[in-house]
Amino acid sequence: MSDAEYDRLFRELQALEAEHPELRTPDSPTYRIGAEPQSQLQKHKHRVPMLSLANAFNEEEVADWENRMARIAADVREAGYTLEVKIDGAAVSLTYEEAVFTVGATRGNGVIGEDITANLRTIPDIPLRLTGEKIPKWIEVRGEVYFPIAAFDELNRKREAANEPTYANPRNSAAGSLRQLDPKITRERGLRFFAFHVEPQEAVPLKTQREVLDALASWGFPVEPHRKLVATLAEAQKAIAEIEQELPSLGFQADGVVVKVDRLALHAELGVIGEREPRWAIARKFAPEVAVTRLLDIMVNVGRTGVLTPFAVLEPVEVTGVTVSLATLHNADMVEAKGIMVGDYVEVTRAGEVIPQVLGPVREKRPPDARPWKMPEVCPRCGSPVERPADEVAWYCPNLSCPGRVLETIVHFAGVMDIRGLGYERVRKLLEAGLIKTIADIYRLTAEALKTLDGFADKSAQQLVDAITVSKQQPLSTFLFALGIRHVGGTVAKLLGREFGSLDKLTGAPLERVSEVQGIGPIIAEAVVHFFAEQRNQELIARIKGFGLDPREPEAGGGPLSGQRYVLTGTFPTLSRTDAQKLIESAGGRVASGVSKKTTAVVAGVEPGTKLDKARTLGVDIIDEKELLRRVGRAQ
Ligand code: IVH
Repeated sequence: MSDAEYDRLFRELQALEAEHPELRTPDSPTYRIGAEPQSQLQKHKHRVPMLSLANAFNEEEVADWENRMARIAADVREAGYTLEVKIDGAAVSLTYEEAVFTVGATRGNGVIGEDITANLRTIPDIPLRLTGEKIPKWIEVRGEVYFPIAAFDELNRKREAANEPTYANPRNSAAGSLRQLDPKITRERGLRFFAFHVEPQEAVPLKTQREVLDALASWGFPVEPHRKLVATLAEAQKAIAEIEQELPSLGFQADGVVVKVDRLALHAELGVIGEREPRWAIARKFAPEVAVTRLLDIMVNVGRTGVLTPFAVLEPVEVTGVTVSLATLHNADMVEAKGIMVGDYVEVTRAGEVIPQVLGPVREKRPPDARPWKMPEVCPRCGSPVERPADEVAWYCPNLSCPGRVLETIVHFAGVMDIRGLGYERVRKLLEAGLIKTIADIYRLTAEALKTLDGFADKSAQQLVDAITVSKQQPLSTFLFALGIRHVGGTVAKLLGREFGSLDKLTGAPLERVSEVQGIGPIIAEAVVHFFAEQRNQELIARIKGFGLDPREPEAGGGPLSGQRYVLTGTFPTLSRTDAQKLIESAGGRVASGVSKKTTAVVAGVEPGTKLDKARTLGVDIIDEKELLRRVGRAQ
């Protein structure tokens, strides 16, 4: 039909409908322009929630996905996969009753969206009445409304000419165009639509996703033509790479390839994760794992030990789907070794790491005004001259009461002592308000004092005070770790806690005594003794004790082997090494790696090692598995 012929018929239809409004059917083409502007969009509850998709950023993550599915349904590996272009637009759900388009809605939060029926009717790709066969009585068709790049550019050109602000990207403008209150505006935009999913799946008498796509096409929907059916995941990986090559020339924004299990029966079996994502589909995205962006500045963070860590302030950039604007630079040497200058374009990665990091500069892109960077000579938080111990790459702020260090110290303390509700922001506020200056002050806080701060009500203030009180019962090892003594992490703290049992015994111990503890080297011992020898730390501990803290290490289980030390050697008849160790520890004993005079007994199995000879030389008891089991009360 020629355009002129179409226009004539269209006008005739309009005239007829004006005369006989009762004859105007919901699928009349006149609806494509008709509706009056609305004052606001109505909410629409989806009968079946609109799901989103999990992402995979490389081949390995796609393979992991198949393995996860295979644990639930082993035959997934033989069920075939459909590959579809992932259209980057706005998701919509279209309801058809008796083949007629009745309601169209945005995704919203997946459960409740907005009714945009009038706007969707203006999009010529969306059939107002379905044609063809096997159309269910009631069905929801899901798909993506998108803005072709050419139409988007055209819109921006027009807006620019009219001195109106231009739009940033086709995806957001597609969503914005759909939510217009006046359908005429939507119509002028030139939006398009692709269908890719039906709900409820049981409503269609079909067996595969491939058939669903074909059915959608036969009912009158545009379906993205680059779809592909493959038999195995290996083939899928290959085909994904091929489709990836095509994405830039599609004429619309596409941000990946969606892989779906082809056999629909498995969709039901595999189900949905957290009411959000189907387990049977995944979006293979091509967001870069390494991105290039501008390094705007290098700033320095002060850690709790005073260590100064340079970090990069970046022009925001997307890396593996996450926007990054800060990244660590590790230490000053790294900045120098990699030749990073402020103003450079740098490569940024997040691969495998939570914390983004700067890999290095892109030298060819170095702007003329890029300038070298040096660690500042004074601490950026307190102005103290910075120091660098001779054998270290790190620079330090030596000032123990530097606000940067104090903040980090207190946050670490609260975290390790498990004081719920005392996170970074609250510690910052408490410091700012002068309510705390050191970790000891935490134990002085009252609900009344807390309530003077923003963000605290009766309940939250009391909860925090309760959490602080509970933390007084933490074992010595936890307290030692929380203090943030250099080189004392969780494991070392445990060794110290077990050895000394109470804080007083440890603070009173001379260097020789601490160095004797198994597993503690001279550097750690030195750091521990040094810490407790410092006057300000002694004052701190005295104040903490004044608030009723007297941390002790509970006797390990207090069981039948309490206070005893065992050494294991050889293979045992029934117990594995790990089992034997667990058995001893759960009975209150300890397992050491070397034999000494303090060893209670050596447990010897078949083919024992030199430990047995050592035990003989030192006159240490030698027992077998049976005797061990008897001692822990597990055998006669
Ligand atoms: S399937 C249960 N297939 O991507 C069905 N989604 O990031 C779930 N999208 O919300 C969706 N192209 O709006 C599917 N071929 C395609 C798609 C596609 C684009 C969108 C969809 C979804 C989002 C998830």
